[in-house]
Amino acid sequence: MRKPFVGGNWKMNLDGAAARTLADDVARAVAADKLDRACDVAIFPPFVYLPHVFNVLRDRSSSVMLGAQDFWPEPNGAFTGEVSLAQLKDCGVQVVLAGHSERRHVIGEGDELINRKTRAALAAGFAVILCIGEKLDERAAGKTDEVNQRQLRAGLAGVPIEHAARLTIAYEPVWAIGTGKNATPADAQAAQAKVRSELGSIFSPEAASRIRIQYGGSMKAGNAAETLAQNDVDGGLIGGASLKADEFVAIVSAAAAAPRGR
Ligand code: 13P
Repeated sequence: MRKPFVGGNWKMNLDGAAARTLADDVARAVAADKLDRACDVAIFPPFVYLPHVFNVLRDRSSSVMLGAQDFWPEPNGAFTGEVSLAQLKDCGVQVVLAGHSERRHVIGEGDELINRKTRAALAAGFAVILCIGEKLDERAAGKTDEVNQRQLRAGLAGVPIEHAARLTIAYEPVWAIGTGKNATPADAQAAQAKVRSELGSIFSPEAASRIRIQYGGSMKAGNAAETLAQNDVDGGLIGGASLKADEFVAIVSAAAAAPRGR
C-alpha cells in the first residue's frame, strides 16, 4: 500500500518572515490533525530560507520533511551560484526535486543533467522527486505518454533498483502548471497508469507498485479530492496553493482521506 505524499513547492516566493510563518502554520496543522499518520508531507522553500524553515520544523519536532527545489550534482568546486547535496544535507534537507518543468523549460536543463542529478541525490541517500510532463503542443499532438516515457527513461538511466524505494515521480503536465487548468482526474489517472507501467519495465513491476506518483498542476483544495482518489495518483506536488497554509493543509487532508487499497 502506498502512503500518499504531498509536497509544497514554494518556488521563488516569500520572504524570511513569511517562510517561517507558513512553515509553522503547516507544521502545527499537520500535527494537530495527525495528518502525518496517513500522508507524508514535505515543503520546498527557496534555498536561502532552508535554515529558517529547518529551525521552525525542529522546534515543533515536526514530521514535515524539509525539501530543496534544486541542487548541483558535483560534490564541491568551482560551480558559482550552485548548491551541493552535502550542503543541503548540512541544512537538514531530506528530499529534493529533480527535473521540475521550470528548470527544464525556463532554465534549460536537459535530460542528461537531470539524470546526473537524480543519480547523485539517490546515491547520497536523499528522497528524490523526479518531475516529468508534457507541454501543451505535445499533448495536442497526442504525445503525452511518449514524452513521459522518454523523460522517465532518460532521468532514471543507471539508477539501481535498490534506490527505487526513495524515488517519487511527479507527473506535472506543463500546460497545467500555474495556469488554473488542471488535468481531469481521468486524464491524470490515464497518464499515471502508463507512468507506472513504464516504471515496471525500467525497474520491476513489484518495485513500480511501491513507487509513489504525484500529480502536479493547479491542484487546489477545491479540486484535489477527486484527483487524489484515482488509483495511480499517490499525492500531489503543489505550487501556488502551497503558499497558503489552510489551502495546502486542506490538500494534505484530502490525500490522507483518499480511498486506500492500492
Ligand atoms: P501550481 O500548483 O502552481 O500549478 O504548480 C505546480 C508545480 O509546478 C509544483 O511543482
